[in-house]
Amino acid sequence: MRMYDIIKKKRDGYSLTAEEINYFVKNYTNENIPDYQASALLMAIYFNKMDKRETLDLTKAMINSGDTFDLSSINGIKVDKHSTGGVGDSVTLILGPMVAACGVPFVKMSGRGLGHTGGTLDKLESIKGFKVALSNEEFVRNTNDINISICSQTGNITPADKKLYALRDVTATVENLSLIAGSIMSKKLAIESDAIILDVKVGSGAFMKNIDDAIALAEEMVTIGNSYGRKTIAVVTNMDEPLGKAVGNALEVKEAIETLRGQGPEDLFELCLVLGSKLLVLAKKAKDEVEGRALLIDTIDSGRAYEKLIELVEHQNGDISYVKNLDLLPKAKYILEVKSIKEGYVKAIDAEEIGKTALALGAGRETIESQLDLGVGILLNKKVDDKVEKDDILAYIHANDLEKAKEVEEKLLDIFILGDKNIEKKKLIYKEID
Ligand code: URA
Repeated sequence: MRMYDIIKKKRDGYSLTAEEINYFVKNYTNENIPDYQASALLMAIYFNKMDKRETLDLTKAMINSGDTFDLSSINGIKVDKHSTGGVGDSVTLILGPMVAACGVPFVKMSGRGLGHTGGTLDKLESIKGFKVALSNEEFVRNTNDINISICSQTGNITPADKKLYALRDVTATVENLSLIAGSIMSKKLAIESDAIILDVKVGSGAFMKNIDDAIALAEEMVTIGNSYGRKTIAVVTNMDEPLGKAVGNALEVKEAIETLRGQGPEDLFELCLVLGSKLLVLAKKAKDEVEGRALLIDTIDSGRAYEKLIELVEHQNGDISYVKNLDLLPKAKYILEVKSIKEGYVKAIDAEEIGKTALALGAGRETIESQLDLGVGILLNKKVDDKVEKDDILAYIHANDLEKAKEVEEKLLDIFILGDKNIEKKKLIYKEID
């Protein structure tokens, strides 16, 4: 088999066989295929797409490129969660403790991410000492002890995806349904949980910019998950404006902790309830989502979800005083108020643009090597549909560099679009797929 022929076949619009896909994935992982040929194939896939069978074969080949993690020694129905990525998305830090506090093992291996802010692991590192790298034994032991572990991928899980995702990231080939589905589902399926919930984001701050594409991605991933015998469901959710109010690593951790204390933003908490109630039904802890929602709310009202986060931090060597006293979390030197120059209703706050401002302040990685500035970011004071008077504070900029903060201030005034009241209220959930 020759890589040249595989590239040509896909370039000309034909479907690749399972053997061809395996050949590519195996040999690219083993460094027998150079980046330029892999890039050419990725671009051909980007333009000519893969059908469902090819996508499933791609997922399978990526799973088989490395180890799988057998979780059968963890008691109970184990649930996992994945978000396709958005701005201000700290759901895992809230949902995990809530679900675990209901007695459901929440098993999550997260990434760092090249997004506008760090990934879940970076955020957790705002808590002094928090150990994100667990051995398989620690992962299993902790989950059996306290029903929750959140860590980086252990061992050699989907090495093909690591290489391919890094290449896609620099060759403008990320935004393809089959490549995204294969990338996400290979990682999820290599870690053998019993049920998976997928939060597929759509909107300006997401990979998927329109609802039809997001639904197609969600359906594809649900089909792949279920074909592996894992109960998989997806929720397509709004990422036109940031989720919650905080965008930035320590800022999001603070917001997540406040949410666990019952003082979080409405949209962020609501999304946790929607996803969590589905997980409780999948894990057979609730007969339906109404009961699931009530159980989850009780974990907040009783303080059990907050206590669960403290247990998680303790089990992963973190300093729990950072959870109890939010002033200890990394902070920026300067906090600038961004004041509205007119009155009206907030019509839009472009999530991607907000993400870019957070990135410019140092909250995210420009390259894999970039160092994150954990204390910086944007704290929204107004959200879409809010009424604004002249001089009201729209947002706070948390920065360590005053010059950058001034540039961001100007941008934010353009990003907040004010006008007449929106006729239609924004939607948080577009579609549920199971
Ligand atoms: N997240 C992933 O893990 N992979 C993708 O391809 C896109 C988002």
